[in-house]
Amino acid sequence: MTAATAATLVVGATGTTGSRTAARLVAAGRPVRAASRRATPLPGAEPVRFDWYDRATFAEALVGCDRVYLVPPVGEPDPAPVMLPFLRLARAAGLRRAVLLSSSAVPRGGPAVGAVHEALPGLFAEWAVLRPSWFMQNFTGVHPHADGIRGEGVVRTATGEGRVGFVDAEDIAAVAVRALTDGPAPNRELVLTGPEALGYDDIARIAGEVLGRPVVHRRLTPEELTATLAERMPARFAALLADLDRAIAEGAEDRVTDTVLRVTGRPPSGFREVVAKELTARRR
Ligand SMILES: NC(=O)c1ccc[n+]([C@@H]2O[C@H](COP(=O)([O-])OP(=O)(O)OC[C@H]3O[C@@H](n4cnc5c(N)ncnc54)[C@H](OP(=O)(O)O)[C@@H]3O)[C@@H](O)[C@H]2O)c1
Repeated sequence: MTAATAATLVVGATGTTGSRTAARLVAAGRPVRAASRRATPLPGAEPVRFDWYDRATFAEALVGCDRVYLVPPVGEPDPAPVMLPFLRLARAAGLRRAVLLSSSAVPRGGPAVGAVHEALPGLFAEWAVLRPSWFMQNFTGVHPHADGIRGEGVVRTATGEGRVGFVDAEDIAAVAVRALTDGPAPNRELVLTGPEALGYDDIARIAGEVLGRPVVHRRLTPEELTATLAERMPARFAALLADLDRAIAEGAEDRVTDTVLRVTGRPPSGFREVVAKELTARRR
């Protein structure tokens, strides 16, 4: 199989960034194998069953592919032992390029997917690690913030006055496609943000203006947030998310980068624009 006809395996193809990345690859005329646990069909892509926790699904998913977009196993505190056997198999199967979705909050060699980031350049000659800030789709898609805004008109955080360079998942997908398909691979990490850093007070105000009804930012302590989140997820994961809010309160995410503009040639979308488009229409 030549590079011109080889497919891109999109892991997490039904999710927030994977679905958009797969759709953009299809629109660009690229063959896509869309991987998820139920092999959910996506327009123009070939569905393939893949489960990070079922190694029997690995080899079949890789057939005909020369590159892969990687969404780590969701909620997994230690993804490296789960992901590395698949990545070694992918390399042995002839895949040349891997683009990993990480997070602005996770440095190379850091906790969770940081260990996979560390290993990636040693496994693939062509690679990129996307480190996006928080997704704007947390307020429009399937997420506690979106549910809170739509339901009670409340966003609960422990971020205080802290600001975040929220980024549109469409912009993440646009960068992912470039990282997967550009002649020279990036071979570096790419920290992705939107055009401005906003506090959650700003988020609530803008969401309220878009919806035409009040939305408030309720400030919790990290302990109060952990208890609230633990009603809908494992306590350990709830504590981890509350810790991330604590870091935001301390200024860890108060930055913007020019990566989206530099890589795609167009500026990233703003928060008001994205919520106005998406908040009333439920999507992932
Ligand atoms: N939300 C944020 O603000 C934010 C910010 C920065 C980074 N991130 C990172 O983004 C990642 C999530 O990416 P996303 O939002 O694109 O995904 P997502 O919307 O959470 O969707 C997860 C995808 O993974 C698939 N999946 C779930 N469990 C799987 C398994 N065991 N094996 C194979 N596939 C599985 C799901 O499909 P099926 O259920 O159909 O299998 C789905 O396609 C996380 O690693 C997070 O750290 C998030």
